[in-house]
Amino acid sequence: MFRTAEGHRSQRNSTRRGRSGRSGLRAAAGAAAAAGVFLAAGCSSSGDSGPGEAAGGVPVVHQGKLTTCTHLPYPPFQFEQNGKVVGFDVALIDLVAQNLKVEQKILDTPFENFKTGAFLNSGQCDLAAAGMTITDERKKNVDFSIPYFDATQALLATKKSGITSLDDVKAKSARLGAQAGTTGESYAKSQGFNPVAFESSDAVLNGLRTGQVDAVVIDYPVVQGWLKDKANSDQFVLGTKAIETGEKYGFSVKKGNSALLAAIDKAITTAKADGTYNKLYEQWIGPLPQVKP
Ligand code: ARG
Repeated sequence: MFRTAEGHRSQRNSTRRGRSGRSGLRAAAGAAAAAGVFLAAGCSSSGDSGPGEAAGGVPVVHQGKLTTCTHLPYPPFQFEQNGKVVGFDVALIDLVAQNLKVEQKILDTPFENFKTGAFLNSGQCDLAAAGMTITDERKKNVDFSIPYFDATQALLATKKSGITSLDDVKAKSARLGAQAGTTGESYAKSQGFNPVAFESSDAVLNGLRTGQVDAVVIDYPVVQGWLKDKANSDQFVLGTKAIETGEKYGFSVKKGNSALLAAIDKAITTAKADGTYNKLYEQWIGPLPQVKP
C-alpha cells in the first residue's frame, strides 16, 4: 500500500494509472509515481540515508531531507506539474525545510494514512501535508501544526442534472460522490447521504465527468481551482448555498514530535507576518479573502 522502494506497485497505483490523466504529461508523471520514486525534483530516488538531524537539532527520518507525505493530486495544495510536485502546501513546507537547512522530499501515500499517522509512526515521513483538515478524530493519532488555511466544503454538480443544492440531490434521488476518508465525505454522511467514495480528488472529478455521480461534495478551494478550467465550468456548476464547515487545515507530525512542530509553526507565523504567506496564497489559491468587518 505504501510506495517506498522502486518497483513496488500497490493496488492504488494501478487504480491511479487506470484512471489516468488528461495529458501525456500527467501520464508520464503518473508512471514515475507508479515506479515508486520520490516525487520532488532535484532529489535522487536512490541512496536514501537513515535518520538524522536538521538545523536546531530537529530530528528527520532521512538525513539532509524533510520528508513529506501527501496524497496526490490535491490542487492547488499539491499536484504534479511538469513532473514536479508543486502547490501551496509544498511552498509552505519548503519554507520549513529552508529554515532547517534541508531539502523537502515528497512521497505520495494513501489518504487513510493521514488519519492513522501510520507513515509518521513507522518513520517513512517527517510530516504530512495534504490540504488536511484538523479534526478531533485525527488529533488522537497525530499532532497538528497551527492552522494555516481556512476552508469550507462545496457542492459541484453537472449542469445537466439541474442540481444546485444538497436538497436537490435529495429531492431528485441523485447520486452524490465524495473523496473517501475526507471531511467532505463525513459532511455528506452527516446530512443523511451515502456518497459514492472515490479514492482521490482526480477520481471525484472523473466520476462527475463520466456520469457515475451527478454531484460531489469536496473542499471549496479544490472546486474553485477546477472551475478555472473552461472544460469544467462548461459542464459543472457550483452549488448556490455555501457549505460553511469552518474547517482549518493543519500539517501533521508524529505524536510528541514537538521540535518539528515548533519549526513548522514558526515558519507559518513568520510567513504570515512578513507577507510571504499572502504572496503564496495569491500565487496558488487566488485573490486574498476579504477581511470580514
Ligand atoms: N480537507 C479534507 C480532509 O482533510 C480533504 C483533504 C484531501 N487531501 C488530499 N490531499 N487528497 O479530509
